[in-house]
Amino acid sequence: MQSVRLSVAGRAKKICLIGEQILTATIEPFHTIDVSRRANALRQAGRSIIHMEFGQPSTGAPRASIDVAHRILDTEPLGYWESQALKDRIALHYHQAYNVTLNPERIVLTCGASPALVLALNVAFDSGATVATARPGYVAYRNDLRALHMQPMEIDCGNDQDFRLTADAIAALDPAPRGVIIASPANPTGTIIRSDELARIAAICAERDIRIISDEIYHRISYDHAAHSMLEYSDDCFVVNSFSKYFSMTGWRLGWLVVPDQYVPAARARMGNMFLTPPSLSQHAGLIAFDSTDELDRHIETYRRNRGLLLDALPFLGLGSIAPPDGAFYIYASIAHLTDDSLSFCLKMLDEIGIAASPGVDFDPVNGHQFIRISFAVATPLVEDAIARMKTWLPLQPRIDGVTRPENHSSEGMRL
Ligand SMILES: Cc1ncc(COP(=O)(O)O)c(C=O)c1O
Repeated sequence: MQSVRLSVAGRAKKICLIGEQILTATIEPFHTIDVSRRANALRQAGRSIIHMEFGQPSTGAPRASIDVAHRILDTEPLGYWESQALKDRIALHYHQAYNVTLNPERIVLTCGASPALVLALNVAFDSGATVATARPGYVAYRNDLRALHMQPMEIDCGNDQDFRLTADAIAALDPAPRGVIIASPANPTGTIIRSDELARIAAICAERDIRIISDEIYHRISYDHAAHSMLEYSDDCFVVNSFSKYFSMTGWRLGWLVVPDQYVPAARARMGNMFLTPPSLSQHAGLIAFDSTDELDRHIETYRRNRGLLLDALPFLGLGSIAPPDGAFYIYASIAHLTDDSLSFCLKMLDEIGIAASPGVDFDPVNGHQFIRISFAVATPLVEDAIARMKTWLPLQPRIDGVTRPENHSSEGMRL
């Protein structure tokens, strides 16, 4: 493959030539980072800011993990290291939670789900491969695919599809893509794909020779029913997971990738060359975190309360088309009556009432201009404060749909 650098409109752009085909690797910025940067600047300047832009628990690592980390810092040299005990513990988790028997050697420890995703894509597909993803979907899917010179094929999974990817949608893709990324619970919507549908997805992918990467980073954060692992329906898929969400260890940078048997040597070779090992300290702390479920499950109760407050309040404030947040800690809601520029809307809301949220355009370049994502992985009083601020601000915003007094725009009856 030949690769050259060009300067395009003032930006460095790498292009790759594969045969006659030119694949560009222009990566869109993650606009939420701009919102967050501005939120931090405002906070430093003394403003009261409620951070609901990033999907990160505000709770920190479990107490026992922190205690272990203190002890290890005093006693261990912390070199490159892969914890066999952690791989064994993760394999046991698959047995306990999903009744799946997993050889621990199929688990590659990574520095979070982000490198696990890059590793899976790099092992599973060649440059130029087409890989399907749901739209809206996590921003890194399409950008990682582009960075790896692969082609994202986005499947519309908006309001009309109940914000869920289905086996029928995958069956209808023509030609069949080489792969598909499944996310359940999904980011930004929190929707969970039910077990019978996951089984149908596994079957149609096996039939059409479509390789599955299942991003299960939000597992164990769900409200009515637990999410199922794709490993229950297929032994031949890649599964991405991490300590960033349920375990509340975002900055510890620890995750894992479950690799199909035949790809284990390739995955290990790439891991060693690209990332070596995840932080040793985090591996010690992560192992203990598996025994901290009482503490971690209390966070889920906070999220459940926060979710209920927002689901009660937002429709009265005019936010509609809310995706059903079966899991994760996000509300993805339409602001179509107020704007078709979700980034400007988020910056305005931040400047005027100090709430940082994520613009939908990060997750859906087609319809996301009219959506925002609100993360409720924060303390409940902050959610109550955010609702109170929105309650006075949202009704004052000019509408772009010509409606002067919508029926459901009254805040009467809203529970706060
Ligand atoms: C769906 C999804 N996958 C992967 C990641 C990356 O997580 P990590 O912190 O483990 O790299 C995120 C982060 O928000 C995410 O939402």
